[in-house]
Amino acid sequence: MAEIERATRAAETICYLQRFTVAYEYPVVFTRGVFRPDNPALVSTISRLEPDRRHRCLVFVDEGLLRVRPGLSEEIRAYVAEHRDRLELVAPPLTVPGGEKIKNDLFHIEWMMGLVFDHRLDRHSFIVAVGGGAVLDAVGLVAATSHRGIRLVRVPTTVLAQNDSGVGVKNAVNLRGSKNFVGTFAPPFAVLNDLDFVELLPPRDKIAGMAEAVKVALIRDGAFFAWLERNAEALATFDPEAMAYMIRRCAELHMQQIARGGDPFETGSARPLDFGHWAAHKLESLTRHHLRHGEAVAIGIALDTRYSVLAGLLAPGADERVCALLELLGFRLWNPALQARLPDGSLAILQGLAEFREHLGGELTITLLADLGRGVEVHAMDTRLIEEAVSWLAERERP
Ligand SMILES: NC(=O)c1ccc[n+]([C@@H]2O[C@H](COP(=O)([O-])OP(=O)(O)OC[C@H]3O[C@@H](n4cnc5c(N)ncnc54)[C@H](O)[C@@H]3O)[C@@H](O)[C@H]2O)c1
Ligand SMILES: [Zn+2]
Repeated sequence: MAEIERATRAAETICYLQRFTVAYEYPVVFTRGVFRPDNPALVSTISRLEPDRRHRCLVFVDEGLLRVRPGLSEEIRAYVAEHRDRLELVAPPLTVPGGEKIKNDLFHIEWMMGLVFDHRLDRHSFIVAVGGGAVLDAVGLVAATSHRGIRLVRVPTTVLAQNDSGVGVKNAVNLRGSKNFVGTFAPPFAVLNDLDFVELLPPRDKIAGMAEAVKVALIRDGAFFAWLERNAEALATFDPEAMAYMIRRCAELHMQQIARGGDPFETGSARPLDFGHWAAHKLESLTRHHLRHGEAVAIGIALDTRYSVLAGLLAPGADERVCALLELLGFRLWNPALQARLPDGSLAILQGLAEFREHLGGELTITLLADLGRGVEVHAMDTRLIEEAVSWLAERERP
């Protein structure tokens, strides 16, 4: 400290450089029957720092999940009753709207914060969020900001939430139509992935979540890509073992990126795991969210893979291989919004590039492919080649 003071001392100005690092650690558990009374995963992760304490918990459950598993709140109550020496519910499990609805109105955030206040949760208490990525994002924001941070346990219940969003460090809600405008980086206390929940999803949502696995395999892990190819049929029919491995490996690769990628809280200009996402985000809004996130990502992956070939970064033929895998998994790699044009004649999806940069600030950074399993960052994309890649997808779509 003194040295810095001397080095920067000039006239009346003294500058101290404050510096510290904080280590984060949280278990990510893969299990089945997480609320079966004889499953110790939840109670042992919650009490891992203070085993002799009775932990106070406030539980929020996704309404859409309750529709397919109506007895869930009762199961949670029974679980806590079984472990009453270490767990306590401050209120019966509370139902919250599922999907984007919970993220689109701050009313829900304030309502949840009110409950945190009313039940006098403190920074050693627990908020447990059970649901899809949207519910985890909204409840996560409440947990991260109430009392400046209450311990959050996530129980993700969709493929996407289990293999991607739920194991990460972000939360957010939408404001004025701007997606994820209000949010924080806040690692959870623990994550418990239960495959039983995924099996309740409609086929369309099971398929959509697999796009993130193809994405992360393509940029990080060629062996995983080959595994996905070998197991495409099993995945397309939702074979439980194949689904379990796909989710686990995808989650693991996302966790490695956060821990070892050097920028867990995204202060730089790159979002290395967002391969295929600049077009995907735009396609989601152009189709007014008729496309699921994963469905848009699959198209974005196909587009950027073809682009990588056209730009000379990736060997010809690799694009066809990637498209074949996505189609085997059940994705359709075409949507008319790809060819939507603005009044000036340019492709509407190109706005996605500008929006991608604006979200992060700084220089445009897009991940493309150098190989099936190796991403490469570029700082500009050629409009002409994007047009060509779109035409290629249009051609493929024709029988
Ligand atoms: N925080 C992050 O890092 C991050 C990363 C990617 C995506 N996200 C966010 O995640 C959200 C999307 O999450 P999602 O794909 O999990 O979908 P979702 O949360 O929107 O849920 C989709 C629907 O499925 C229902 N549902 C949840 N679990 C179910 C189950 N087991 N069976 C049947 N229905 C179930 C929900 O009620 C909802 O109606 C978006 O808001 C996105 O912004 C966040
Ligand atoms: Zn995604």
